[in-house]
Amino acid sequence: MAERFVGKTVLITGGNSGIGRAAAHLFAEEGANVAIAARDVRRNQHVLAELTDAEANAISLECDVTDPTSAQSAVVDTVDRFGSIDVLFNNAGMIYREKTVLETEPSEWETTMAVNTTGVFLMSRAALPHMIESGGGVIVNNASYFGLVGGRGAAAYCAAKGAVVNLTRAMALDHAHQNVRVNCVCPGSVDTPMLHAELELMGGADQVLSQFEAKHPLGRIAQPHEVAAAVLFLASDAAQFITGTALPVDGGITAG
Ligand SMILES: NC(=O)c1ccc[n+]([C@@H]2O[C@H](COP(=O)([O-])OP(=O)(O)OC[C@H]3O[C@@H](n4cnc5c(N)ncnc54)[C@H](OP(=O)(O)O)[C@@H]3O)[C@@H](O)[C@H]2O)c1
Repeated sequence: MAERFVGKTVLITGGNSGIGRAAAHLFAEEGANVAIAARDVRRNQHVLAELTDAEANAISLECDVTDPTSAQSAVVDTVDRFGSIDVLFNNAGMIYREKTVLETEPSEWETTMAVNTTGVFLMSRAALPHMIESGGGVIVNNASYFGLVGGRGAAAYCAAKGAVVNLTRAMALDHAHQNVRVNCVCPGSVDTPMLHAELELMGGADQVLSQFEAKHPLGRIAQPHEVAAAVLFLASDAAQFITGTALPVDGGITAG
């Protein structure tokens, strides 16, 4: 097992589920101090126990990424505990499915933008000064292939993830001279609670999963650790000349 993150501290929003949880495990396996930040304290505690059982240095933080004070506190608590923040994985996200613009309530639009886009802004705004002060850092944002191409029935989510892709590029340009790299991953469909909730809404996993699988040229959906592995690559020194990129991790879905 490579140990690319020994002595590094990684803060993962939405670290209590799905892709964030998988990333927490992979970063911990490679020696990182890991802080997971999400709203559901019970699920936070569950993942924290998994990490500490595996002898990781880890903390869990109750955090709502849409709240500036909460975002700031998560960063400050991470730095207080581990002394630095070297990697921020802006992963928290949510989706309303089967919603065209006509079917999207203004409140649903606001929530989608707040969690998926404003959350990235607030967490980055809180973490950047610490990274800059310590000589550099890495931000990886979790966008979506719906940030690269349009998708049906997810209008607000497509807008929010498209904004994350271009915010990634803007932050990369603004902070390159401070040795902060900023990239995003754009996953295809991933086997997580979010996707399963979508499948239920769209007619049930048994009926819809095979359609989702068939959309991906590789003929299947991803497992969370496959996206997390790309996040670790972008966060690692192997990607030290990569900034401002949107990396599809999508089984080829945006290749055509
Ligand atoms: N699954 C897919 O097919 C897929 C595809 C492309 C992109 N993505 C993106 O991947 C990311 C992770 O999604 P996932 O599939 O792993 O879904 P998931 O298992 O539902 O995880 C979502 C995470 O976001 C957290 N979260 C939601 N709202 C939050 C808030 N206001 N503040 C802090 N944390 C919040 C949740 O924790 P709490 O509820 O406890 O706060 C949870 O940990 C998302 O950005 C999603 O858009 C997923």
